[in-house]
Amino acid sequence: MSIVAIISSPRGKGNTNTIVQAMVNGAKENGKDVKIYNLNSLSNAKGCQACMACKKAVGCAVKDDHAEILKAIRDAEGLIISTPTYFGEACGQFRLLQDRFYSFIGPDFVPNIGGGKKLATVVSCGGGADGAKAMADKIEGAMVGMLKFVPVGKIVFTGANPPDTASKDKTVLDEAKAIGKKF
Ligand SMILES: Cc1cc2nc3c(=O)[nH]c(=O)nc-3n(C[C@H](O)[C@H](O)[C@H](O)COP(=O)(O)O)c2cc1C
Repeated sequence: MSIVAIISSPRGKGNTNTIVQAMVNGAKENGKDVKIYNLNSLSNAKGCQACMACKKAVGCAVKDDHAEILKAIRDAEGLIISTPTYFGEACGQFRLLQDRFYSFIGPDFVPNIGGGKKLATVVSCGGGADGAKAMADKIEGAMVGMLKFVPVGKIVFTGANPPDTASKDKTVLDEAKAIGKKF
């Protein structure tokens, strides 16, 4: 059993990546195996095709680079998701994968991935907390409400336009590591 961590930002050493890495370190200190996926490095990553194959058989029928990630999440005991705020929303890389989570829901609209997987959510933004917090709540809310994940922590990191803002902020790094230890 392991943890899957999703990095959506195209910035290799950006804020969300730094915060996720601190969570990963916490989870590893807690004895967990962690597999990190960097969505921006995928060359063949589609959004949901609305084919509804997942409503006839378990799982997603689209065989692209997201398929391995969906399988890993299905098999994992916990998930770390992260995204920067772009135009008040999650970035495109994250949204493509998020729509594919539809394949975790069966024909009766009951999730078929097993409830109770632990979830941590990381959102970063250049501005203030209001929009980013609402977005993080919405992302987490869908994972909890539709897919029955159990939140162990959420970080909304604000005022973070330079990519190294989080790496200089011991408070957020400590918070992230503490959340990681909850896995
Ligand atoms: C295309 C683009 C759109 C953005 N839109 C917003 C926005 O709507 N609100 C905001 O507060 N920050 C916005 N930002 C700033 C990023 O959310 C911020 O720099 C964030 O910390 C980036 O995370 P990262 O370092 O993990 O890449 C935007 C940045 C880019 C590149």
